[in-house]
Order: sequence, then C-alpha cells, then structure tokens
Amino acid sequence: GDTLTVLGLESSCDDTAAAVVRQRAGGPPEILSSVVRGQTALHAPFGGVVPEIAARAHAEKIDLCVDDALAAAGLGLGDLDAVAVTAGPGLIGGVLAGVMCAKGIAAATGLPLVGVNHLAGHALTPRLTDGLDFPYLMLLASGGHCQFLSVEGVEDFTRLGGTIDDAPGEAFDKTAKLLGLPQPGGPEVERAAMAGDPARFAFPRPLMDRPGCDMSFSGLKTALLRARDALIAEKGGITLQDRADLCAAFQAAVRDVLAGKAARAIAAAPGATALAVAGGVAANRTIRAALEQVAADAGLRFVAPPLALCTDNAAMIAWAGLERFRLGGRDGMDLVARPRWPL
Ligand code: KG4
Ligand code: ZN
Repeated sequence: GDTLTVLGLESSCDDTAAAVVRQRAGGPPEILSSVVRGQTALHAPFGGVVPEIAARAHAEKIDLCVDDALAAAGLGLGDLDAVAVTAGPGLIGGVLAGVMCAKGIAAATGLPLVGVNHLAGHALTPRLTDGLDFPYLMLLASGGHCQFLSVEGVEDFTRLGGTIDDAPGEAFDKTAKLLGLPQPGGPEVERAAMAGDPARFAFPRPLMDRPGCDMSFSGLKTALLRARDALIAEKGGITLQDRADLCAAFQAAVRDVLAGKAARAIAAAPGATALAVAGGVAANRTIRAALEQVAADAGLRFVAPPLALCTDNAAMIAWAGLERFRLGGRDGMDLVARPRWPL
C-alpha cells in the first residue's frame, strides 16, 4: 500500500489526546507525535472522574492537543490522509467533544473521517509497537475495562470473557481508598505490597472454579473491607505492616485471577501466537510477571507495549484508524458518538 499519515483524537475518559502516526509503503508504523493532557488534578477533589467536568475540559483542550501533535510532527493538516477519532465507548460528553472536533477538521479540509472503537485502539496497539500478526490474544485490564480478546483482524475480535462487575484497576483504586492511600491507587497498592506478606489474609479468587474467562473483582474489595474492619475492631486501627499485608494479599488475588483466566483464554484460542496486555493494570510488576509465565508455559510470545501506549493515548487511535482506512473503512458526517459500543 501507499504511505499513509493519520491524525488520531482520543477523549473518551479523562485524558485528552492527539497523535500522528505514519506508515510508509511496506514499512513499520512510526509515531510522529503523541500528546496527552490528563485531567487527574481536575477530578482529584471528587475522588473519581466527574463526567461533566471531563466533557468541558476535553472540549477546551482537544484543539490545543491537535495543534501540539501536528507541530511536534512538523506537519500541517494538508500533509494528512485521514483523521481518526474515538467514537466510543466512553463518557458521552467527552466522546462527543472528540467527534465534533474531528468532524470540524474533516469538513474544513475534506479529509476522510474514520471512527474508531476505543477498545479496538487498545487491542491493535501490539501491531503498532511490536508488529504482531493476527491472531493473537489480548488482555485489556484498566480502571474502566477488563476483557480477554482474540484479535483475528483489524475489525475482527472475539471476546472470550471479561469482568462481570468492577474492573481490576477500579478494585486497586478502591483498595487504596479503603486503606488511606492516594489515587490513582494501583501504583500505591503495588508499592505498599512490596513490604507485605500475601499469605496473611486468604482473599477469594472469584469465579476460578467456573469454566470460561469471566472474572469478578467486587467481592475482593468486600473481603478487604471486612479484614480491615476486623483489625480496627481488634486493636483500634491498622499498622503500616497490616496495610502492607492487606495490599499484598489483595494484589496476589488479582494476579491469580488474571493469570488463571489467561491460561483459560490461551486454551480457548489455539491459533494465537502471542499474549499481549494493555491498560494501566498491566504496569503492575507482580501481575505482569505472572502473565509472562503463563504465556511462556504455553509457548506463546508475551508482549507488553511501553506504558504510555498501554494507557489511554491517541497514537493507538491514529493507528487503528490507519489500519481501518487502509482496508477502505471510513465514516460520513453522520458518525455518531456511542457511550456503549461492544467490540
Ligand atoms: O489504562 P488506564 O491508565 O486508564 C483507564 O482506566 O482507561 O488505567 C488506569 C488504572 C487505574 O485504576 C490505576 O489504579 C491502575 O490502572 N493502575 C495500576 C497500576 N498502575 C495503574 N494497577 C495496579 N498496579 C499498578 N502498578
Ligand atoms: Zn482505555
């Protein structure tokens, strides 16, 4: 195929992002720029993402992100072949801000518009970073999503299972909150767990006795709350060591569930040659090591893209858009923003 240069926009959660990705004929893809403006500080006083605040911040910042991404790539709108945008799933106000911006660019320049599913963006990232061929297995594990996918083509995904309640990142964040640690909780719980004994508390491994790849994390949070309250009732508070042990036991339970279900996913997708991960939870060293071991045991390659491309970003949207566009995919001005959009 020809050389393609695509601008991508992402605004479905609490990161506003724009990026430019280029693929020369027959060559590997190149990320020419990737700009992410987070909103953590805006939402911090509320203890979680506030959709109205997120939507307004996206609308204010998305144009600036586009300008920055083009400037960093040394390109103008005239150098692009298409504009790709996350059209869902996500917080609808934010998704709308991105879709409106992309439509504005398309209307002003005549560039083709390509709507991208945010989850497809995550799922196609290992092709951007590591050139993986189809089919491969993907675990998305973040604050908002948790699912195993068999990735068989640019628009061909089989969902093998996922969480039936909380996402694991959400469980890490709630655990941190219950133990008085700051947000986002994942890195804090991981740090505290390093000094802890995972065997001190026997937390459940939900759904492990059931076939399939479905998972559940909300019961784990309840177990942690009970263990904490029992300690408080017993001695009036929890020590740093108690906290470390609670974090270690919680993390070990999440690790065992993700690793156990990964083994099931591998068994359910015999053609796959690699297990790839994405999402903030994939940054956890204990979880990552367990997944790597499961892949190695099955003779599969293990791929963990750099963290900045595992968490929300627009390079993955530009890339997924480029892949879709190369196959003839594009949308009209009737492209809609979708709060829910299963793969
Ligand atoms: O992918 P991400 O940046 O954003 C979305 O949720 O889309 O993931 C953020 C989530 C948060 O819940 C955060 O606590 C969790 O990933 N996380 C971690 C770690 N780093 C981030 N969870 C466990 N261990 C970590 N080291
Ligand atoms: Zn995401």
